Amino acid sequence: MKIESKTVHAGDRKKAGNFIPVTTPIYTASSYFYDSMAQLDRVFGREEQGPSYARYDNPTVTALQDLVNELEGGHGTLACSSGMMALHLALLAALVDRPKRVVAANVLYGATTHMLMTVFGALGVETTFADACDLRAFEAAVAETKPGAVIVESISNPLLRVCAVDRIAAIARHANAPLIVDNTFATPLLLRPLELGASMVIHSATKYLAGHGDVLGGVIVSDQENFPALTTLLRTIGPNLGPFEAYLTMRGIKTLALRMEKQCANARQLASWLARHPRVEHVYFPGDPAHPDAATVQRLFPKDLAGAMVAFDLKDAAKQDVFAFMEKLKMIVCATSLGDVHSMVLHPAMSSHRDLSPKHRERLGIRDNLVRVSAGIEAIEDIVEDLDQALKAD
Ligand SMILES: Cc1ncc(COP(=O)(O)O)c(C=O)c1O
Repeated sequence: MKIESKTVHAGDRKKAGNFIPVTTPIYTASSYFYDSMAQLDRVFGREEQGPSYARYDNPTVTALQDLVNELEGGHGTLACSSGMMALHLALLAALVDRPKRVVAANVLYGATTHMLMTVFGALGVETTFADACDLRAFEAAVAETKPGAVIVESISNPLLRVCAVDRIAAIARHANAPLIVDNTFATPLLLRPLELGASMVIHSATKYLAGHGDVLGGVIVSDQENFPALTTLLRTIGPNLGPFEAYLTMRGIKTLALRMEKQCANARQLASWLARHPRVEHVYFPGDPAHPDAATVQRLFPKDLAGAMVAFDLKDAAKQDVFAFMEKLKMIVCATSLGDVHSMVLHPAMSSHRDLSPKHRERLGIRDNLVRVSAGIEAIEDIVEDLDQALKAD
């Protein structure tokens, strides 16, 4: 070969030797070839497993999918570019050959509500919102509208309501509608919705799964029925997760159990401290025995793990008072995310639920004085001290 050809080919395309790396490497190749065209033909025909083209498969992404599938107990899992993309694909897969109607919980991540109303609304999909924690009202909405899909969050964003996923699954099944559960806040450590009858589980992997504030990603864990439609959609549209993000997410998941235990314990202590603080009007924490869904939490979640999110209303506070409090924080980060190793606070009215009208937010109880805290893995004393100094009136 001439030097120009060597620069392109030398060193590359060697078969890995007879060894197994202890962690899955980052495969960046966009395409793969095999010993024979007949084998490549079998791979394309899915008679033989293996990657062929990055929009179909990537070995690093496949390893992450296998891992999440194992944790959630799915038939198959697909990773994609964001949590919103995961929800979008799950909904598309559910509605492919079902009525273009959805029943959704009335309190969801703001972008999810917005996506249902605008993106799917514009495509002719009608969504009925109902209180997922009022089973009778939810069942009536499902019976009346006969939807093609049902969507709930296992712990709702931002007011931290916990619906009875098993009972909602029974309602959805009775109506022949797949139940999609956004399990981002709970993680499979607290709840595995497929075991309770859900059809698909989605995660914003950006949050607890990856856990370190350096990934945007999503996963859909599916039952057998919906997996072929999901696979076709992903392979056709191409919203795949990249191999770097898949690697980071896998790396993050290795400590998911340790992080969740610590973060849930921190959230519990934080909630009881906040409840005693004179500047706090109301605390929202699913582990509180007085929480409206305490019985469901006790029934479905492991003992002492009630999530690592806490929200609270700041007493007699307008938006600028909440901003002033947030700006005084020294260690806790005022960033638009959750589930990372570092503690974070967020103002839902300004960020996660900004796309909803003020009236809509008011109806849901998301007022301008609501603050959402994502407990990190720091020492609880430091988290409390930081909040305490920021809560001190000037
Ligand atoms: C409960 C929930 N679901 C889905 C999403 C969307 O995830 P992503 O930002 O990865 O698209 C978020 C984001 O905050 C969320 O909180």
